[in-house]
Amino acid sequence: YRGVDILELTEYSNFLETAFMLIYGELPDAVEFKKWNETIVRRQKLKFRIVDIMKNLPESTHPMSVLQAMIAILGAFYTDANYSEDLEYDTITRLIAKTPVVMANWMRMRRGDEPIRAREELNFSENILLMLTGKVPDSEIAKILDKCLILHAEHTMNASTFATLVVGSTLADPYKVISAALGSLSGPLHGGANEAAMELIERFQSPQEATAELLRMLERKDKIMGFGHAIYKDSDPRNEVIKGWSKLLAEEVGDTVLFPVSEAIDKTMWEQKKLFPNADFYHASAYNFMGI
Ligand code: COA
Repeated sequence: YRGVDILELTEYSNFLETAFMLIYGELPDAVEFKKWNETIVRRQKLKFRIVDIMKNLPESTHPMSVLQAMIAILGAFYTDANYSEDLEYDTITRLIAKTPVVMANWMRMRRGDEPIRAREELNFSENILLMLTGKVPDSEIAKILDKCLILHAEHTMNASTFATLVVGSTLADPYKVISAALGSLSGPLHGGANEAAMELIERFQSPQEATAELLRMLERKDKIMGFGHAIYKDSDPRNEVIKGWSKLLAEEVGDTVLFPVSEAIDKTMWEQKKLFPNADFYHASAYNFMGI
């Protein structure tokens, strides 16, 4: 990203610092980071009217539909049309801060649980897990989530970035721009592959069962979600990283099925089709182990 190796960023940076670098071109200095971090963590909350709107949605609504709608609706609450650098900073920090709050609130509300407020003494990713689970997370697990967010942060001209540029070029407000991008991200051939990969992995009780069914699916010419890439032809550089974390988390939570099944699917796809997992594939099990 911006000339820095993602492996270096996942090792030494954090998601908010990486996001700052992607947006402003350079890593922040200590003063810039303090302001950036504090502003975003302070904004990890939603106005009660926004929560009320969410409460009126059917609980079966897909989280990505909720997110797309609620990000567009944020634009109705933050309407200042006169451009300034302060407004730009406010809008960017709001979007970064509130996106996971919408997701976490929805995950709880659709089960009938009350949303949980973020805490200013926790960091961005710790707050995401707190808002999802109601428990202050293990800091190592929160660090892995933070690194996953770094891997997702940038991916050149993918479909959602393209949608962002198309809608942004019309001078639509930033909330509508990101909302449009989220619509694109939700599709199963893009970010939706993550969920589809999980649905596939969860179907199997053992690696043997997974391999046998995969062979049948390939025979039928089914598309296997979480494999292949429009640009990478040999491997996805993010994959080794996320695969390692998924394995670590599997050990942490005592998983004996999801990770071995994932590896069996991975092996079969390579042997049969020379197709490699993209970053979505092992993110599926990694997020599952985190309780997402
Ligand atoms: N499962 C089964 N077969 C696949 C496949 C998959 N996931 N991905 C590609 N193939 C097949 C193609 O059908 C094609 O077969 P053909 O030569 O018999 O027509 C061959 O592999 C080469 O495909 P390629 O040109 O490399 O891919 P693409 O650019 O057409 O498509 C994707 C790229 C990402 C859209 C595609 O791989 C896909 O749909 N993957 C699943 C969804 C996914 O994981 N998306 C997240 C991307 S980060």
